[in-house]
Amino acid sequence: MDKNFYITTPIYYPSAKPHMGHAYSSIVADFFARFKRIQGYKVFFLTGTDEHGQKIQRAAEKKGMEPKAFCDEISKTFFDLSKTLNLSNDDFIRTTEDRHRKSVENLWNILENKNEIYLSKYSGWYSVSDEAFYSEDEIETKDGNKISKISGSQVEWVEEESFFFKLSNWQEKLLNFYNDNPDFILPESRKNEVVSFVKSGLKDLSVSRKSFSWGIKVPSNKDHVIYVWLDALTNYISALNYPNIDDNLYKSYWPASLHLIGKDILRFHAIYWPAFLLAADIQPPKRVYGHGWILSGEEKMSKSKGNILDPIEIIETYGLDPLRYYLIKEVSFGNDGNISQEKLENCINSDLANNYGNLCQRVISFIEKNLDLKIPEKYVLKDEDLKILKVYENLFDKLVDSIDKQNINFYVNFIQEQLFAANKYFNDQEPWKKKEDLIRLNTILYVSLELIRKISIMLYPIIPNSSLKALKIFNITEDTIDFNSIKYHEILKINDKLNKISILFKKIENYD
Ligand code: ME8
Ligand code: MG
Repeated sequence: MDKNFYITTPIYYPSAKPHMGHAYSSIVADFFARFKRIQGYKVFFLTGTDEHGQKIQRAAEKKGMEPKAFCDEISKTFFDLSKTLNLSNDDFIRTTEDRHRKSVENLWNILENKNEIYLSKYSGWYSVSDEAFYSEDEIETKDGNKISKISGSQVEWVEEESFFFKLSNWQEKLLNFYNDNPDFILPESRKNEVVSFVKSGLKDLSVSRKSFSWGIKVPSNKDHVIYVWLDALTNYISALNYPNIDDNLYKSYWPASLHLIGKDILRFHAIYWPAFLLAADIQPPKRVYGHGWILSGEEKMSKSKGNILDPIEIIETYGLDPLRYYLIKEVSFGNDGNISQEKLENCINSDLANNYGNLCQRVISFIEKNLDLKIPEKYVLKDEDLKILKVYENLFDKLVDSIDKQNINFYVNFIQEQLFAANKYFNDQEPWKKKEDLIRLNTILYVSLELIRKISIMLYPIIPNSSLKALKIFNITEDTIDFNSIKYHEILKINDKLNKISILFKKIENYD
């Protein structure tokens, strides 16, 4: 079985500093990366910045800076955010790096040598904000401006010599590819959009620009820079040391297991990217998942709309793990979701502080007082104990399968139910009334510890810092944490010493 897993985020435009939408994609990607690692996979997790093209060139000009210096400055804020978010990425790629230029040039040469690229002239609409070409029927006029119906961003007329990629040749082959790989595009609703777009007919794609210079030059014609999307998409193989296809990274991790992206850039990932790759005789990625948007009010949060939420501010106020938990739990994955301070505070107080943090404290304090912090011995599991312990075993395959289909909601709901069940178990069993019946007392505490262990392991991909803090109770560390162990309940060693832990989450006080 394939025990390697390669996951990517989009590489973000360093045209302005990162916002909550970027943080969201990165946090969810980190969730999958961490999950697969504790499941025993070798994982490669990539993120980075997309630094070429007209959008960046103009943003730099506006600041009166050279594009490279401008990128250095803003790319660093994305890099810093990856640290602030506690991302477990293995690499951070910048498309202005040499390793990437070589990779793009190589891919271009292959496409040109295979006659997939020809020189002609482009005339049509272009959105610099999306770095996308739009056809006449994708354009509308609003308040006197020509905008894309799809993204709402402004378009301008472009007429210039351009290289074209023979995308029209790939229509049938793409449709066959979607057919043969029914899980290539998820969620299902997005797949249907893509398939009907491809069925409606693909025109050849302009893949170079001549009227500005900020990009990777076409190797055979230095008057042209390579279209920024052909440049950007290639990052996913550049980071694996393509074109060195004998390299261990490339051999281990290509084709990618999962490109996690927002639905705004699905067309590029689900149509252009596999077409380029198929044309170059390279295997397309295994899956592209297009998640929904984080809205601010009712609108997509974006720089141009000026309704940005700053992840750093939220983290400074509430802490990182609460934000990670909130985004993963409250946004129904695949759909759009709103950020609300009230719901965030609610998550902290009820789920994190009460149901999780408090449970850990209560159980461990009780064991400290009554068992000198030792793992209880001589326990006898009754039906009611086995029932709550066995849920993990019974639903194990379903949990793994839900993650493999990016059904985060199933996984998170399960954790919530089990947190509720564990609290109920401890309350109903009333260990404080069992001091005369040591076997029963020991059993209840053993089971409660087991539940804390299982739930903490399951929480690790969502709130890694807090989970590891809780797992210190059992001396479980990031290196020894094992998702598969939640199936079993004979793992804790009798009489082993447990560790006390400090408070996991502070409640948010409301003074109104
Ligand atoms: O498109 N809600 O970069 P970008 C959720 N450089 N996710 C959001 C979001 C929101 N409101 N706003 C942004 C680009 N995102 C290209 C990608 S990849 C080869 C090149 C996330 O800076 C989401 O993942 O505009 C979206 O697809 C991505 O950021 C776009 O980031
Ligand atoms: Mg964008």
